[in-house]
Amino acid sequence: MVPRVLFVCLGNICRSPLAEAAFRAEADAVGLAVETDSAGTAAYHVNRPPDPRAIAEAARNGIDIAHYRGRQVTREDFFAFTHIYALDADNLANLRRIRPADGTAQLSLLLDAVPGRKGEPVADPYYGDEAGFAVTWAEVSAAARAIVAGLGK
Ligand code: 4NP
Repeated sequence: MVPRVLFVCLGNICRSPLAEAAFRAEADAVGLAVETDSAGTAAYHVNRPPDPRAIAEAARNGIDIAHYRGRQVTREDFFAFTHIYALDADNLANLRRIRPADGTAQLSLLLDAVPGRKGEPVADPYYGDEAGFAVTWAEVSAAARAIVAGLGK
């Protein structure tokens, strides 16, 4: 079965699009077939492209995410995806609150996938400067590598 992996942050314009891009790149690099997407718990940026700083960070890492568009997470996502990763504890709490009782997706905090980083958030770079996006990229890339390694077993 092809893993279907959804990454969820607040706005779906900074952290989760980068997580989606890093995960797709990592899966492609090892030849693992996956389906992936990202979404936000909030609806502020529905149909909007990623933050220009996120587009620039992905581009620095050789990936074009300019065509991504924001969307809000839906109850169907809990059935359509096999794994849902929350970028921080607030997003995880909100996902747990809206999760249908019979939802089938495995829900967890993203950095729980990374040895030594269990329980840590991917901090929101939205209100900071450009450098924050490089930190985000490093964190979501580490998680992407760990998730792909786990799925490939
Ligand atoms: P994200 O960052 O959750 O990583 O996409 C944010 C983007 C927008 C807002 C907050 C966080 N906002 O309040 O508009």
